[in-house]
Amino acid sequence: MGRQFFVGGNFKMNGNIKTIRDIVHNINSAKLDPNVEVVIAPPALYLLLAREHLRKGIEVAAQNVFDKPDGAFTGEISVKQLKESGITWTLTGHSERRVILQEDDAFVASKTKAALDGGLGVILCCGESLEQREAGKTIEVVTAQLKAVADIVKDWSKIVIAYEPIWAIGTGKVATTAQAQEVHAAIREWLKKEVSPEAAEATRILYGGSVNEKNCTELGKQPDIDGFLVGGASLKPAFVDIINANST
Ligand code: PGA
Repeated sequence: MGRQFFVGGNFKMNGNIKTIRDIVHNINSAKLDPNVEVVIAPPALYLLLAREHLRKGIEVAAQNVFDKPDGAFTGEISVKQLKESGITWTLTGHSERRVILQEDDAFVASKTKAALDGGLGVILCCGESLEQREAGKTIEVVTAQLKAVADIVKDWSKIVIAYEPIWAIGTGKVATTAQAQEVHAAIREWLKKEVSPEAAEATRILYGGSVNEKNCTELGKQPDIDGFLVGGASLKPAFVDIINANST
């Protein structure tokens, strides 16, 4: 019993050699809650730099990965290349890739499967738009995104789910604790029915969308919120406070 709290930092397309070094240095020198699993996802160009300087025990994630082993896929990075470089996690299905890069549920699922098959952990992102929420379709949208993965992946032990309502990402408009908890509980219920009771019990479900050092403590107390995926605030020293949300 007891899911280990997990905090991911998604830097998106931000940073440069100096600022990535500074962020890594800040994390390395901070006192972090030892009970929290921490993973940072810098832009692809800085994955090796981050891995080289980051202290042991904190992992590095790619923000994206391709679903073919190698070959003529200009601009893409393979699971094997990440693994060889000591990058042990990847994000899949971030809403910015679903919306801007037009990745559909099946493609996200295929990448998720390829990453898992190759031995990476996956932070699988899901979430609804404001329009979908207002139409009462939140649970339907989120579970459809997850179902595409469940259709081809049976072992969920290396998947961490990140529920990120699109309207809360980068907007400063955080979901209320009740809104987040409601969706997290629904996802857990879905896992129980569609994957297994064991997966429902063990899978970490993160909340993402305008998480900061002020709102994290309350969110982190919800029974079905097992951590955060942090965007903007992961670039700031406050990221450490979010990692330590439960120990303050
Ligand atoms: P945000 O981004 O914290 O800047 O809202 C979260 C995310 O997109 O992962």
